[in-house]
Amino acid sequence: MDLLEAHQAGPEDGKVLNCLDIPLPRSRAPHPGLSTDSHAYATTEGLWTADRNHAYPSLDWGLIGCNDAHHYWHVDVNGVATQVLVRCGVKLWFLARPKPGCDFASTDFFLNNDIHDTTNKEWDVEVVVLRGGDELYMRPNTPHLVITAESAVCRGGYLICYTTIRETSYGLFHCAIQNRVITNVAEFNEALFLVRRLVMYWVHAIPGSE
Ligand SMILES: [Fe+2]
Repeated sequence: MDLLEAHQAGPEDGKVLNCLDIPLPRSRAPHPGLSTDSHAYATTEGLWTADRNHAYPSLDWGLIGCNDAHHYWHVDVNGVATQVLVRCGVKLWFLARPKPGCDFASTDFFLNNDIHDTTNKEWDVEVVVLRGGDELYMRPNTPHLVITAESAVCRGGYLICYTTIRETSYGLFHCAIQNRVITNVAEFNEALFLVRRLVMYWVHAIPGSE
């Protein structure tokens, strides 16, 4: 209700509220080509005693932001890729693209550069305008900034994909070292669980991988 009132009051009189990470039950089918985590989970179910009773986690969330709400530069937690679908409103998604000589895999990069510095010279910025019905898939370990240009309702989720598993491993490592500095979620252990299942899948389902 506070969000609705703030939206209706408008940008001059209202508060700028941004409600992130509203937990949602899993309602979308896993992307058949991108959600390697889902495939690995199903394939390795029951193989490891410690994980046997661990249900497949919901990686979905909702997002409601009033006009002008913004979220400063960060990477999403623990090497996950991100999918977001804008239901209504407008989101501006600023994506960092490393310039030559800049490497987001490097620990030195995140230790020596302030990710929150809006004048960062190490990367170019690509801006994606997302309107109602638009959907974005973002690679893991991508610094990004988000501005709500018009009050927006979104639903999204995390996934782990084998084609970007290198970026996932970089993101996992960076978050292990600098979690509270470079990301916006205190902890997300479900990502670690799914990575374990991917490793099991690799070992058990792919001949010769031992
Ligand atoms: Fe994010």
